[in-house]
Amino acid sequence: MTGPVQRSVIEGTGSALPETRVTNDELARRLDTSDSWIRERTGICERRIAAAGETTADLAVAAGARALAAAGAGPDDIDLVLVATATPARTFPATAATVQGRLGIRAGSAFDIAAVCSGFVYALAVADSLLRTGQARRALVIGAETFSRIIDWEDRTTAVLFGDGAGAAVVGLAEGRGDLSDRGILAARLRADGRHDMLLHVDGGAGSTGTVGHVRMAGREVFRHAVTNLAGVTHELLDGLGLTAADIDWIVPHQANLRIIEATAQRIGVPMERVVVTVDRHANTSAASVPLALDSAIRDGRIRPGQLLLVEAMGGGFTWGAAVVRL
Ligand code: ACO
Repeated sequence: MTGPVQRSVIEGTGSALPETRVTNDELARRLDTSDSWIRERTGICERRIAAAGETTADLAVAAGARALAAAGAGPDDIDLVLVATATPARTFPATAATVQGRLGIRAGSAFDIAAVCSGFVYALAVADSLLRTGQARRALVIGAETFSRIIDWEDRTTAVLFGDGAGAAVVGLAEGRGDLSDRGILAARLRADGRHDMLLHVDGGAGSTGTVGHVRMAGREVFRHAVTNLAGVTHELLDGLGLTAADIDWIVPHQANLRIIEATAQRIGVPMERVVVTVDRHANTSAASVPLALDSAIRDGRIRPGQLLLVEAMGGGFTWGAAVVRL
């Protein structure tokens, strides 16, 4: 049975990147690494690095303002601000509160989501739930990071992988017919497995060392879990909707590593021509990577209104998740 249902629709997207580009060759001047190693193992060519004093909130505000403009919305139209981040400028208040204040949004609530690289997918699913249960009317959902601040710049195994940036989406409610032709978030699934919380973590924090710590990662293990988990949650999601890989116009994946993206797309059964890749230019921007990729592909005309998107991400925790969204 289908009938009218409320759907959470992406009404506009925006993104922001720091000015400074750092190429692999530049990193190779400071670290025992090379452009060819980084390209071959990760697909990364360059990343953006925040300027001194440029914070996650600064990038989030810029991305959020662009998403509002793209949606034709103003601050008074928003009553929920979610910021997915692992790199807040301050332990508290939430970056979302700072962003809300700076964008002139006065209604509703604002809070951060801590799911590292899966943060934007988590935030999208949380926004969808709060909107459809009547707790908010229109959300500004942001993924923003300055991962450069928690990188150990002496550790070549992690320093080459990450970058800074932010991406945002305005998500509002629209009535749908209750079938798969509807615009909006058709389904989302979130997962976590905390047994692996040491395979990708930060070795400090406000409540332990009193420092922010540095990213530590068991790269091969993370790689293996990422492909298995992402393919698994996607299959569950598509099966639950009665969709197949052929129905997906674009995968918008978390941009951790080209090899993870390729292996996951292959397991899902979607050719790389229908996968948005920005990891070459942005590296891994954690919670910002999915909305940055989404905004890039919308603005360059690859993703068009009405198309069916699969967004998926996996990160520290482990956390992972996926959503099927018709733009
Ligand atoms: N430059 C040159 N050599 C390097 C570098 C580097 N930057 N980093 C590691 N190496 C060396 C290692 O020391 C090792 O040398 P050894 O054989 O002499 O010991 C060799 O390269 C191979 O190292 P591995 O770690 O086995 O290399 P691997 O092929 O697994 O690639 C990588 C490493 C790229 C980190 C890979 O494991 C990976 O992509 N993992 C996924 C991790 C990831 O993307 N995490 C992001 C966060 S999680 C997420 O977002 C899903």
